[in-house]
Amino acid sequence: MKPISRSHASGAKPANLIRSRFKSGRLPEVEAFTASLPFDRRMYRHDIRGSIAHARMLARTGILSRREARMIERGLNQIGGEIERGQFRFDIGDEDIHLAIERRLIAKIGDAGRKLHTARSRNDQVALDLRLYLRDELDEILRRIEELRSALIRLAGKHVETVMPGYTHLQRAQPVSLAHHLLAYVEMLTRDRERFQQARQRTDVMPLGAGALAATTLPIDRKMVAHELRFARISANSIDAVSDRDFAVDFLAAAAIVAVHLSRMSTELVLWSSAEFGFVEIPDEFSTGSSMMPQKKNPDLAELVRAKTGRVVGDLMAMLTVLKGLPLAYNSDLQEDKERVFDAVDTIKPALELMARFWPALRFNHIAMRSAAGGFALATDLAEYLVRRHVPFRRAHEIVASLVRETTDAGRTLEDLTFDDLRRHAGEFKSDAAALLSADSSLRRRSVLGGPAPQTVARRLRELKE
Ligand code: ARG
Repeated sequence: MKPISRSHASGAKPANLIRSRFKSGRLPEVEAFTASLPFDRRMYRHDIRGSIAHARMLARTGILSRREARMIERGLNQIGGEIERGQFRFDIGDEDIHLAIERRLIAKIGDAGRKLHTARSRNDQVALDLRLYLRDELDEILRRIEELRSALIRLAGKHVETVMPGYTHLQRAQPVSLAHHLLAYVEMLTRDRERFQQARQRTDVMPLGAGALAATTLPIDRKMVAHELRFARISANSIDAVSDRDFAVDFLAAAAIVAVHLSRMSTELVLWSSAEFGFVEIPDEFSTGSSMMPQKKNPDLAELVRAKTGRVVGDLMAMLTVLKGLPLAYNSDLQEDKERVFDAVDTIKPALELMARFWPALRFNHIAMRSAAGGFALATDLAEYLVRRHVPFRRAHEIVASLVRETTDAGRTLEDLTFDDLRRHAGEFKSDAAALLSADSSLRRRSVLGGPAPQTVARRLRELKE
């Protein structure tokens, strides 16, 4: 798009559409500070779509003639083309995209253009545009969530038998599989999908017809506009219609939560790709070097996905803060909604897309993962073995704890133990107990609903693929 010019820059000040009652123009600094044009330009397609629906309705109800509506529609489509091609001259004096397009329409078609804003205010217009814009973006975000979910589900399908340690307190805890770990992210993303779907439902409400706040005395047909723009519902209260930004908050909350999920995922990738873990290697296409240390291969993508979560959480906080002190109905404060929404959209869309491409590109080190999953991560299995031999769990816990202490002191690990070593700690250990000391068999036995056993995870994968 073209840069925005300042009023008077060309010498000829465009006729201002809404300042007839004023004696003098605005200070250029005030004009620049209060304008939303620099950022709300991105909604031009939605503004045009909304205006065309409005004009058609005005013609249908006889408020405009058919000819006027056709001229308006043609003019608006041409303006869309001008903006598309970078030919539209944006002027900061127009304040926002709504007045910029309307002024151009009047310049093109004259009096018919002056009729477009009949029975409409920028207050219901901007609410409409933001809803139309966000509804489109929500569809795209839902698509990208689906892409990441499917990428993780596909990857999990390959790693049902890939044993790795599960962690609590970032200490090796019990064996799980990589598939089970990945499907934990899938559960998170499934909830995210639900939240965005709900945000979409609350966005899918048609506010036009609310006017400035008290609707209009003209015989408009709101149902027709809602039908034309494919809205599921029509706002039921004109005051609420122009002052409600809950849908933006719903979106930002869902965005903040998915950003937190992507951030936690990123932290694991940062850890796993370190030499200390050595679980994954990040391919060159996704990593960055160091300007000083030639050996470095940095997980920048994951780090920045994690860091950008701060912006999205900030967007949510900023939006709530803007709203909290506002009386009904429209206040200019609401103009600050858009940049928050745009920023969150611009942050989570590429983060979702890149994560969906990142995961399948990673190379996992099965050997490092399996060896980290053995040893003391099998201690609970031994305790549960004793429970099957009727030892009370607290007692079994003590027995295995002393076994672990002794083994650690001797510089050995649980896998090094023989049947005799076990036997010395509890008579209940029989010859089959030594077979417990493998991460793979531990994994297979964890087959309760929701557990990590390969056949359980395979069943969950089948459910997810349906
Ligand atoms: N630029 C304004 C916004 O973004 C449009 C609505 C302006 N309405 C008004 N009465 N100033 O919210």
